[in-house]
Amino acid sequence: MKNLEGKFCIVTGAGKGIGKAIAKRFLDEQAAGVAILEWNLELAEATAKELDPTGEKVIAVQCNVADSQQVKEAIDQTVAAFGRIDVLVNNAGITRDRIFHKMTDDEWHAVIDVNLNGVYNTCKYVVPMMRNQESGSIINLSSTSLMGNPGQANYAATKAALQGFTRTVAKELARKNVRMNCVAPAYVDTEMMRAIGEELLTQALSNTPAQRMCAPEEIASVVAFLATEDASWVTGQTIYASGGCVCS
Ligand SMILES: NC(=O)c1ccc[n+]([C@@H]2O[C@H](COP(=O)([O-])OP(=O)(O)OC[C@H]3O[C@@H](n4cnc5c(N)ncnc54)[C@H](O)[C@@H]3O)[C@@H](O)[C@H]2O)c1
Repeated sequence: MKNLEGKFCIVTGAGKGIGKAIAKRFLDEQAAGVAILEWNLELAEATAKELDPTGEKVIAVQCNVADSQQVKEAIDQTVAAFGRIDVLVNNAGITRDRIFHKMTDDEWHAVIDVNLNGVYNTCKYVVPMMRNQESGSIINLSSTSLMGNPGQANYAATKAALQGFTRTVAKELARKNVRMNCVAPAYVDTEMMRAIGEELLTQALSNTPAQRMCAPEEIASVVAFLATEDASWVTGQTIYASGGCVCS
């Protein structure tokens, strides 16, 4: 596989879970720099230290992706450190699960603000840079929940919206050699997934053709493929990494 040698990358929400696995994989692929944009700075700093003890390649930047001003400052800080951005992974995401007729306005808006507006916020600043440099790859984390998952009307709405956003912006950016794709996982073994509780987890696994949970590294490898020039002709796509849950 072609690697990420010389590439500077941003991964949002990379303090733990899938984002952390992506940051680690990017370093394994010889990325020149990885910026962890996290709303939990302490977590981001601990992860940066764990992945890059010498502090030469990884920076931890405090950033709530739902806050446009914080995103602007975080991206300015990243560009000041790295000089350019070649890869952006919009991984930060939250759930606020509740059956729709009981869902509060706060639960609805919190998920839209992070999972959808957060992607808008980062892209608003990074897309013009990538257009100007006439290269770049953006990967957005969608989810198989978009097919319909009781209790996740807010979450599913955002993950479906990301696919429409991705198809549209990918077409706009293709002539500038900038690619945008989605990865849609199912049942990845992270704190977000464990939060659904043992009963729902058992039920979910019995409905998964692969009959097991996915390791975060198995999503990181798909993201890494889309980030590299091996995927140079792939744009506007969603790759379902779901152990057979969604076959498209
Ligand atoms: N775990 C799964 O089974 C699964 C399945 C499909 C899609 N996804 C998606 O993958 C992505 C990562 O999920 P995960 O399971 O690793 O979640 P996680 O909860 O384990 O980790 C999410 C990380 O994002 C950070 N974060 C949350 N909101 C943020 C914000 N506003 N600004 C900056 N950082 C923020 C958290 O601090 C945390 O470090 C999410 O977009 C999620 O929707 C996960």
